[in-house]
Amino acid sequence: MKYDFDRVISRKNTDCAKWDGALSLFGDADVIPMWVADMDIPIAKPITDAIKKRADHEIYGYSLPNPKSVVDAIVTRMQKRYGWRVRPEWIIFTPGIVPALYAAVKAYTHPGDEVILQSPVYHPFWHAIKNNGCHVVNNQLVFHNGRYEMDFVHLESSFAIRHGRPPTPHRVRVMILCSPHNPVGRVWNKEELIRAGEMVIRHNAILVSDEVHSELLYHGITHIPFATISEEFEQHSITCISPGKAFNLAGLEASANIIPNPGLRKQFQEARKGILPGINVFGFVAMEAAYRYGDEWLEQFLVYLQGNYEFLFDYFEKNIPKIKIIPPEGTYLVWLDCRALGFDPVSLRSFMAKEAKVGLDEGYLFGPGGEGFMRMNIACPRSVIAEALKRIENAVKNL
Ligand SMILES: Cc1ncc(COP(=O)(O)O)c(C=O)c1O
Repeated sequence: MKYDFDRVISRKNTDCAKWDGALSLFGDADVIPMWVADMDIPIAKPITDAIKKRADHEIYGYSLPNPKSVVDAIVTRMQKRYGWRVRPEWIIFTPGIVPALYAAVKAYTHPGDEVILQSPVYHPFWHAIKNNGCHVVNNQLVFHNGRYEMDFVHLESSFAIRHGRPPTPHRVRVMILCSPHNPVGRVWNKEELIRAGEMVIRHNAILVSDEVHSELLYHGITHIPFATISEEFEQHSITCISPGKAFNLAGLEASANIIPNPGLRKQFQEARKGILPGINVFGFVAMEAAYRYGDEWLEQFLVYLQGNYEFLFDYFEKNIPKIKIIPPEGTYLVWLDCRALGFDPVSLRSFMAKEAKVGLDEGYLFGPGGEGFMRMNIACPRSVIAEALKRIENAVKNL
């Protein structure tokens, strides 16, 4: 069937974080919210059909922790998309990826250990590390010729045992990779994954690969799951996946973690015991329907997303040239370089919200390297983007 992504559906008064939360977040109910990562786009029909069918059953008791049909849907999808042979027993379900990151840090570290991340990066990574009593080692991305790259020299030195924090030397146990990367939009290529992964293996650490954005790719870009590089990579990693972003199911909180190493799997299960439940009945149903029957919708959405990006790019270039777009390879989040506007980071956020009346995520939220940037979510009807751009253009002109 043909989907109409231009259709504007009001999300106001639905307890929607993005729209109903805009007043408290930006201090203005008229702000166009383009911050949190969900879409203002209706989902694939097979998913709503499956949820309605399940709702009609009228009993919503506990589910099995690993429903066979959902496991099969993931195994089949990984094989089809990446040629990755995932064994059913490798899959552990969690109600969202962020809780899985917390469980992974808890499972593979002791308080005082160090965990690597690469800023500017999705801010809950920081919290997952710090709230487990660990230290962040920031392998900050390098912004080079308008593109973000990993700093491999710094990464290598980050893995070295650090002395001087008594009583015992702390060491890096885990690296959290954002793949594709939110907010800078990079989709890591094979060479980058291999270089980072070889360091992880050499230093006997574990790589937690957050691949929630892996199906949101721009024209000609391919995502490679970290674990598919080799068996050694598989054994040193956990891969977090979810239909939450690509199929717009974030509110259903359904994710899966692929953990091929039995020891790591056991540690993860121990860490989550009692505090992290499985997935709710509707989350399972939606995940299976998305993975089995959602691709017709996804293919159409990706074409629309590409169109949104091209529209945005042209508009900024022609009408707001002071703001530069960092071309994304993946995700529906666009990283805007607003440094030429000359604001300090806090005033920039307030300028966008109060003068332009567009609610964006402020770059400094994502850690060092994010200052002076803003993140814009373009998973919405194009008319909404057009209105937001007009507002930004006018506000910049009035400066
Ligand atoms: C990289 C990344 N990981 C995880 C999440 C959140 O996932 P979940 O809602 O499944 O916890 C997001 C949401 O924006 C994200 O960008």
